[in-house]
Amino acid sequence: MRRTVSTLMAVVACIAVGSALAEKAEKEAKPPVDVDQIVTTICAACHGADGNKMLTPETPKIGGQRADYLAKSLEDYRSGSRNNVFMAGVAQALSDDEIEALSAYFAAQESELFTLK
Ligand code: HEC
Repeated sequence: MRRTVSTLMAVVACIAVGSALAEKAEKEAKPPVDVDQIVTTICAACHGADGNKMLTPETPKIGGQRADYLAKSLEDYRSGSRNNVFMAGVAQALSDDEIEALSAYFAAQESELFTLK
């Protein structure tokens, strides 16, 4: 009986440690994305914090653009299939999670985009 109890306790302890480790590994593998920090320290310099500033005439407005379009653009800059000297450097430093979060952030901004008549 005594043996059964201690075996049981060992099993319970293993499960507890195992799930704590799994939780820790998940947190380490997926650090939370700090969108505000990335936007203010990187993107805002050229696109503005709301994505509507244009540093140069070649800098597109991205505020209010569709999230899937923004994500596709960032993935293409990262892979090199869309080539731009500024955006290549920026996109190569971004993870999939950061691309998703940044795309959602800029898509949620007020749009200044319009259709030509
Ligand atoms: C050094 C200036 C600079 C910085 C910093 C910068 N961009 Fe850009 N971005 C540009 C320019 C210039 C273009 C247009 C490139 C082209 O012609 O393909 C562009 C294009 C884009 C596009 C494609 C838009 C479209 O309409 O096709 C997206 C999306 C984008 N940037 C997102 C971001 C995000 C997100 C960040 C921050 C992580 C960022 N950019 C940082 C200059 C910059």
